Amino acid sequence: MKNLTTCFSPQLLPLYEFEDRTVVVVDILRATSSMVTAFAYDVASITPVPALADCRVLKEQGYITAGERGGQKVDGFDLGNSPFEFMDHKLNGKDLAFTTTNGSQAILAVTGARTIILGSFLNLSSTADFLIKNNESVLVLCAGWKGKFNIEDTLYAGALANLLQDQFTFEDDSTLAAVNLYQNAADDLLSFLHRGSHAQRLAGFLNHRDLEFCVQRDKFSLNAIYRNDRLYRI
Ligand code: MLT
Repeated sequence: MKNLTTCFSPQLLPLYEFEDRTVVVVDILRATSSMVTAFAYDVASITPVPALADCRVLKEQGYITAGERGGQKVDGFDLGNSPFEFMDHKLNGKDLAFTTTNGSQAILAVTGARTIILGSFLNLSSTADFLIKNNESVLVLCAGWKGKFNIEDTLYAGALANLLQDQFTFEDDSTLAAVNLYQNAADDLLSFLHRGSHAQRLAGFLNHRDLEFCVQRDKFSLNAIYRNDRLYRI
């Protein structure tokens, strides 16, 4: 049986071997939720980049720029990082350049992995189905916040592992802890998210509907996979 392990923060990544695994990168608030939403609205590709300047270079090549710093839209960018900004059929067929504080950096931190996909509650079951069919051991990488643990990505890791417990072994206590947390919170995920540090951080300017949206399970049937520097819908 393949195994599934959970890394609570990119800062802990040096402790994990991920090269032979599928890595599920998750940033529930809000990068991976927004990216999955963009694919549901048929963007052609998303290129995650580390810096604002990288986005600006790609804009000159015709890319749509998206992302945030400190949770807020960047001056001169086309889009911020709210999933609602990607619910726009004008984005159909477009290539996006995306930079965020944690989510896009987490994707770039695991580019040596055998397979990289995005995780969000919005496509939870599709991701579980993909992982079962793909039959590789899995690392769930929580993007966290600037290297620190966060509640929303951990809840997602628990939700995914909860779906996969008959198909994968759990080799570490982080996955067990995530599953227990999820089982306690499953009936009221939104309340748990509201108490989290990132929800508090964003509260000054974030419309509550972002949180309510990002916590929905299985709104979309799709996966997003990273190949040759870009994410694509599969
Ligand atoms: C990030 O990547 O750090 C987050 O998506 C921040 C945000 O909520 O915009």
